[in-house]
Amino acid sequence: MPNKENLEKLLKSLASTFQSVRIYTLNHPKAKTAMQDLYDMFKELFQDNPIIAFGLVGDELFCGKEIFFDLTVIVKDFIKELKNKKIENISFKSSLSYEELETFIDLLAFSKQNSVEEINKSIKSKNIHNVTVDVLHAPGIKPESGETEHKYNLSKDDVKHFKNFYSGIIDNAGSLLDKSIIDGVGDMNIFSNIVTSIFEGLGHKENFLLMLMNLKKHDDYTLVHCINVSILCMLQARSLGLNEQDIVDLGLAGFLHDIGKILISRTILRKPNSLSKEEFEAVKSHTVLGAKMLMRFPHVNKMVVLTAFEHHLGIGSQGYPKLSYPQRQCFSTKIVAISDFYDALRSRRHYRRLMAPEIVYEIMRSEKDKLLDSQLLDNFFKIMGVWPVGTVVSLSSGEIAFVEAQNLGDMFNPKVRVFFSSNKEKLEATYSIDLSQIEDLQIISSIPSDSPECEYIFAHLDK
Ligand SMILES: [Fe+2]
Ligand SMILES: [Fe+2]
Repeated sequence: MPNKENLEKLLKSLASTFQSVRIYTLNHPKAKTAMQDLYDMFKELFQDNPIIAFGLVGDELFCGKEIFFDLTVIVKDFIKELKNKKIENISFKSSLSYEELETFIDLLAFSKQNSVEEINKSIKSKNIHNVTVDVLHAPGIKPESGETEHKYNLSKDDVKHFKNFYSGIIDNAGSLLDKSIIDGVGDMNIFSNIVTSIFEGLGHKENFLLMLMNLKKHDDYTLVHCINVSILCMLQARSLGLNEQDIVDLGLAGFLHDIGKILISRTILRKPNSLSKEEFEAVKSHTVLGAKMLMRFPHVNKMVVLTAFEHHLGIGSQGYPKLSYPQRQCFSTKIVAISDFYDALRSRRHYRRLMAPEIVYEIMRSEKDKLLDSQLLDNFFKIMGVWPVGTVVSLSSGEIAFVEAQNLGDMFNPKVRVFFSSNKEKLEATYSIDLSQIEDLQIISSIPSDSPECEYIFAHLDK
């Protein structure tokens, strides 16, 4: 993989060549010079890299583990065009000729096509053999061969029980929170009881709760977020072998991490478009406000206060609140920061669709040792998988399936239950497949939870 600096140069050059071609057309000397510079850059990088591929995550370009946040403004027109054309991935092979590159950029700048299939057809018809465009694929690990049948372990009663349990927590916690915080002072016993009841409910079937987190449709984002973060913290803690008291304490730190938001205007918190500098500063103050509020609670565990203060701070204190000295985050903050980041990306907000898990995975990986602790993040995806339980995915065979269990240690290949055949027909009898056991079958991508296929699957889970 080329180093970050070279990749940045290449991306800037790619975006500016695209602009020049668009403004001056291909035969103008300015466009020709830009194209030649770009081609030379590619040739140099191809010496050590047979393929150079870029992907688009949200509004950011990435390559390998690097996401180029700093380039977003410089390459914004280029990104906009990729989005218009629904391209999420471009690969260039080392045998790329100058003519192929020129024809491809011209196609990107002027074609009106807006699907990857159509663009790939044009690429073929224009004899471009060394460039392909695609939708996003998460990296895959080739599993061992051999298929195993797995008994489907989700009974009608289990699904009903956990649905009731999860919505019960949300309703109860909401009213208990209101009652327990009077004049900014909360009753820690009530908070502990909420978290302990969540902990007890987790039992040994946390997969079901994770599934329900995926299906949730609830208005009170902050409350649901706090419950989800609490659950995710307890799952992390349990997987690390901590004792029951420590698990519940971490659940509590997760539950109360954003409590300072109670003091921030709802209008700002719910604003659909980007925040002004002042508004953003107000949102950021929830860390300090939360810590101050928690310090006034009787019998509060200091770890909970510290976590509320530090959870946006990052590993090297590069986040907020701004400190005049670097502070080492405490263990509970590192756990909460991962759960918080994950749930924030995975939540459907009124201004944003649910983000695909494979994109969440890429974004979180790019935060290793920046905002998130590297080893704990590896552990997190080991237990959650890239596609968590409850995700509906399309397989390389064309089949559509529901993720029903993780394979610990193989985060890309969970156990799935197939509901739609490769011809997209509903199956009378669904069947389970362990993807880690079949060599040529992989997950291609997740399917948005508001698609008809997902709705059909969710409606038939407990039948
Ligand atoms: Fe926060
Ligand atoms: Fe949060």
